[in-house]
Amino acid sequence: MLKRALLLAALGVLGLTGLAFLAEAAPPRQATAAPLAVGDPAKGGYLARLGGCAGCHGQNYAGQRADGTAGAPFGITLTAPGGGGTAPASNITPDAETGIGRWSDAELVRAIRDGIRPDGKVLYPGMPYARWHTIADDDMEHLVAFLRSNPAVQNKPPARQLQVEPAQPRFSAPSPKSSPGESAGRGEILITVANCANCHTPRTAEGTLDPSKYLAGNILGTGATAQAAANITPDRATGIGDWTVEQIATAIKLGRRPNGTALSGAMATQINNRFQFLSDTDARAVALYLKSIPAVQNRPAALLPAPAAMPRTGDDAPVLPMAGAAGLGALALGLGWLGRRRASSPA
Ligand code: HEC
Ligand code: HEC
Repeated sequence: MLKRALLLAALGVLGLTGLAFLAEAAPPRQATAAPLAVGDPAKGGYLARLGGCAGCHGQNYAGQRADGTAGAPFGITLTAPGGGGTAPASNITPDAETGIGRWSDAELVRAIRDGIRPDGKVLYPGMPYARWHTIADDDMEHLVAFLRSNPAVQNKPPARQLQVEPAQPRFSAPSPKSSPGESAGRGEILITVANCANCHTPRTAEGTLDPSKYLAGNILGTGATAQAAANITPDRATGIGDWTVEQIATAIKLGRRPNGTALSGAMATQINNRFQFLSDTDARAVALYLKSIPAVQNRPAALLPAPAAMPRTGDDAPVLPMAGAAGLGALALGLGWLGRRRASSPA
């Protein structure tokens, strides 16, 4: 189950080629017309921030600009590996003509969680539906309520141009009905949505996340700007096995290790943009999950260039809240340093 989720998460990043071997000619399912129970837009906005929807769809959620030019608050265009084409982020504001205004709740849920549009087309898997698949029905009600509460923006992103149509995704388990309360199970969902593995899990030679080293630490970037994303498995020697649940929750929300030092660089950015907003119970759920996964011995920092070669940036400064930067962290999140994104936003 976990490995499967990992694999799917990795494939989501890999894109086009990724899901091909899972292909199955399933007929498009019929979306039911029944609207969802009324969700809470604030709770939905919380999930959207954690998942970094705005990082791709833009601060205004209106997707890539119609003419494809750069510029916040609009979104970005994803490029498929190996010249496989482009998929501009869609307009997911309630605009009836160019957005999702005419979609039923069920159609929206199906697109976000299963990757199938109302017309039966499979979404490009760079849109991380393989990860959103883990979001429970009740949380989806909130997410849909949030999307519907956003201002409608008229903007028609350019059509996608893909060499190969994405394959029908296949999931090993249906999405959960209701999200568990404070527990490792809730933590697993949050960690999947937040894509911690994208930074903390090393990749195989093929570029997929290595399931045998799940969250066991990884090197981000290269050369002088490289940074180790720590081993966050419960290994006592190389991971965070000695940290208590409270200490892990504090590190994730406030950027402070048990020894008082501040988390820096890529992690500080994520905390500023996203993780500081985690509720206390959700931060503890994430910590409970991290306590429950297999301990893996791995010391990524040992692979870094000597400390003298590390640049000194402002990143060592204490973590300061940064308002309004909702999903920019998601640029790194989805595809960032893999360099596969064609940024159309100057940010
Ligand atoms: C890594 C970038 C990325 C992230 C993060 C992302 N999306 Fe997407 N999304 C896309 C792209 C690109 C498309 C268009 C795919 C295509 O055309 O095949 C898309 C398509 C969609 C669609 C279908 C719209 C349509 O008109 O076809 C919906 C709905 C959607 N996204 C919702 C969301 C929500 C909600 C979130 C956050 C929970 C989210 N997306 C996060 C990139 C992303
Ligand atoms: C964009 C990349 C990125 C993402 C996403 C990310 N991290 Fe990190 N994380 C890092 C880096 C880099 C460090 C090391 C920071 C440092 O050395 O100052 C780190 C450090 C940590 C630490 C401190 C470990 C230690 O031994 O000092 C914890 C705990 C942690 N991350 C948990 C998480 C969790 C949980 C998530 C998802 C909710 C997550 N991280 C998502 C990059 C990331």
